[in-house]
Amino acid sequence: MKLFIKKPIAQLMAASAESEKTLKRTLGVGSLIALGIGAIIGAGIFVRTAAAAGEHAGPAVTISFLIAAAGCALAGLCYAEFASMIPIAGSAYTYSYATMGEFIAWIIGWDLVLEYALGAATVSIGWSQYFNEFLHTFFNVHIPFVWSHSPLEISNTTTGMYAAEFGQHGFVNLPAIFILLMLTLLLIRGTAESAIVNNVIVVVKVAIVLMIIGFGWHFINPALHTPYMIPADAGTIKVSAGTVDYADTFNHGWLGVLRGASVVFFAFIGFDAVSTAAQEAKNPQRDMPKGILISLAICTGLYILFSHVLTGLVSYKEFLIQGKEASVSYAIKAAMPGYGWLASFVTVSILAGFSSVILVMLMGQTRVFYTMSVDGLIPKVFSKLHPKHRTPYKSQWLFFVFVSLFAGFIPDKYVGDMVSIGTLFAFVLVCLGIFILRRTDPNLVRPFKTPWYMVVCPLGAAICLCMIASEGWENWARLIVWLLIGFVIYFTYSIKRSHVRRGVVEPANDPINPKYVE
Ligand code: ALA
Repeated sequence: MKLFIKKPIAQLMAASAESEKTLKRTLGVGSLIALGIGAIIGAGIFVRTAAAAGEHAGPAVTISFLIAAAGCALAGLCYAEFASMIPIAGSAYTYSYATMGEFIAWIIGWDLVLEYALGAATVSIGWSQYFNEFLHTFFNVHIPFVWSHSPLEISNTTTGMYAAEFGQHGFVNLPAIFILLMLTLLLIRGTAESAIVNNVIVVVKVAIVLMIIGFGWHFINPALHTPYMIPADAGTIKVSAGTVDYADTFNHGWLGVLRGASVVFFAFIGFDAVSTAAQEAKNPQRDMPKGILISLAICTGLYILFSHVLTGLVSYKEFLIQGKEASVSYAIKAAMPGYGWLASFVTVSILAGFSSVILVMLMGQTRVFYTMSVDGLIPKVFSKLHPKHRTPYKSQWLFFVFVSLFAGFIPDKYVGDMVSIGTLFAFVLVCLGIFILRRTDPNLVRPFKTPWYMVVCPLGAAICLCMIASEGWENWARLIVWLLIGFVIYFTYSIKRSHVRRGVVEPANDPINPKYVE
């Protein structure tokens, strides 16, 4: 049995030839950078940063951002080489099928569910927090704690909107499910998000970050930045799930900073969107790595300044209690008198900004599964297209249910960690894959070559592995269980039906192929 059977590149190219005709090479470096920033900024900076500072890194969350950015930049270079070898639009799944073979492609495709589907769940939970903040700010009402939180959460603050619900358990996060439903309906209708709306959202997201840095800088209390890392004797804090003891191994010092890096890594996810636009770039060889690295560099700079301000406004410990939810609005209201309008502006803009990230993730998920289904690796239901809208509507519904189970019943902390570990694992595979391919297939045409691959690939893999290591055994166990489920499906179902194995030539990658319309 050839586990690593490859999909012929010629077949991929022929299949996408039709859809290629509609793609024009119009994107310059500027557009690629905008695309990258649009996909990157989301719940990571507005929700997960406060959690990383509160639980693990303290003010040194800035260093966590640097570590996560280094891992992303090195993996990003490998990703760009990978994408340039197969000059069609696609995901890591498509590229690895043609270069590293079916089994690795399966692992990556299966793993991408953690990045896309659970990524959508994480951002929708963040959306729910800001939605309640919005209702509270503008209408002085809110959805009760029990209906806006998972059963694993307990209201632990005696101030703010949930004060009267202190000690109550959540039951289901309805606002998170609501936004997923709305966006699923939009995706089924196939209403392409217009470029203008997308650009406006990018501008607004960057503007909020800049405004918080600019206005907040004067309110930084330097005392809150000392000590910079969480000290071993930082004491304990009573929170809903019990007591956080900062003396725990991973909750202080450098280990805490590394653990923080694996949490804020989430904030960088999405930069790989640039490499999927390879076909539309005017000069992919020169512009793609620039697009990836410059958008990463801009976001890293913004994130570091932003988190410096955030941890200078309120103590990192508050992000475990009163400032746990809608943390950015909380910090502004608590420490920037006279800037209530900024808190309201942030709340409204974040709702829009998060929606676009969820939309892209839900769409990315169904498109990867569409391709895997067309390849015969997963059931046909994932490639059935709507008779009128020509969108994979059944898949969209199935993922709505799947994502809602996580968004509705599990706290963002756990789901976000799953996203990070799953994506980090995919990055490790891409870094190692590029290294191995350079040795085994030196003659493959590579329009873009990772510089100093002997250093970049192993170092990228090592940094990502360190972040994975810091996540702790519970997260490793979840990743392993997920991969094992994937192996069972692969060896009992996919391997028998794989079209490449059976020699079936499919006109894949064309989402409007009439063959799949019901
Ligand atoms: N990077 C994206 C976010 O932070 C996933 O929401």
